[in-house]
Amino acid sequence: MLEVRDVSKTYRRHGREVIALDHVSLTVPDGSITGIAGRSGAGKSTLFRVVTALLRPDSGSVHIDGEDLFRLRRRDLRARRRRIGIVFQQFNLLHGRTAAENVELPLLLAGVDRTERRRRVGELLDLVGLADRADNHPSQLSGGQKQRVGIARALATNPSVLLSDEATSALDTETTEQVLALLERVNRELSVSVVLITHELEILRKHAHEVVSFEAGRVVEQGRTIDLVSDPSSRIGRAMLPRTTTAVPATDATSAPAALDAPRTSRPAADRPRVLVTVRGEGTARGYLSRLAGDTAYDVLSGGVHTVGGERVARYELELPDRAGLDAVRRTADDRTAVESA
Ligand SMILES: Nc1ncnc2c1ncn2[C@@H]1O[C@H](COP(=O)(O)OP(=O)(O)OP(=O)(O)O)[C@@H](O)[C@H]1O
Ligand SMILES: [Mg+2]
Repeated sequence: MLEVRDVSKTYRRHGREVIALDHVSLTVPDGSITGIAGRSGAGKSTLFRVVTALLRPDSGSVHIDGEDLFRLRRRDLRARRRRIGIVFQQFNLLHGRTAAENVELPLLLAGVDRTERRRRVGELLDLVGLADRADNHPSQLSGGQKQRVGIARALATNPSVLLSDEATSALDTETTEQVLALLERVNRELSVSVVLITHELEILRKHAHEVVSFEAGRVVEQGRTIDLVSDPSSRIGRAMLPRTTTAVPATDATSAPAALDAPRTSRPAADRPRVLVTVRGEGTARGYLSRLAGDTAYDVLSGGVHTVGGERVARYELELPDRAGLDAVRRTADDRTAVESA
């Protein structure tokens, strides 16, 4: 587990002070994908540098698997840092070396013997789908391939946590999704916790199980992505999955299912209550709408199915004939369904 406790950091430059981290506390649960969200200047990269022990905070502590990072002796800190995988925005590959040599470097520095290094490099390039590119230099690889080498290199020394700071911002949308799919696989198959730092909320909505939202150096919200998007009072939740009125908002949304054939409402629009229903699971959503149709008439005004934290989540804006319809919506909801007035 990665824990940041009450960390503060102020930069001082030319007599000016910038408070980059202001009493920040957060937890990255084991085996999770945790997203760090925040606008430019919110302090995300400063947090990244502190957690990867590249920067010492003014106060507070960082604990990884129970060890207090900044209380370790220099030698132990070096060993500890090998267990923290880092993926950079600009890949940071050595241009004079091949893909295989780049992945091998951390193993070389850790004193791993030649035979084991060879074996491990082969295994890692296989994992990221670049076994046939082992002898290519970075200049012969695409951005996505370079980042996959970067991920293989970050995994070389078996880290328990992998941190990436805007790792996909230099890539196009399709390549971004490939890299994120790889990080999801690493998370699932190797049980490595992943920290995704990005200002791209759609990435966090889709791939992060947990989200921590930063504003001006402070944590303003944190929680499970699904809980945040289901919570009408959550700002980051709203930003990740907007409350819709008429349009289907997100690019991966599929249109509302056929339960739209429910008996239609007939009263004037102004009198009809509207609700926003968020249901976890695509099948669950269909089941919900057909159960509801047995109880009340409704119209689906907008909605669709989205990916939230690797799960499918449906959100519909419903219009109901009367207050009794509203009660039916609430009655039909189970613990996978959140209902709020639209
Ligand atoms: N080395 C530095 N010296 C002085 N100020 C700095 C330094 N690094 C960052 N800052 C300032 O600290 C604040 C937080 O910066 P940081 O880079 O952590 O933000 P960020 O959330 O990563 O932003 P971005 O999304 O643009 O990468 C900003 O106001 C920034 O100008
Ligand atoms: Mg940054």
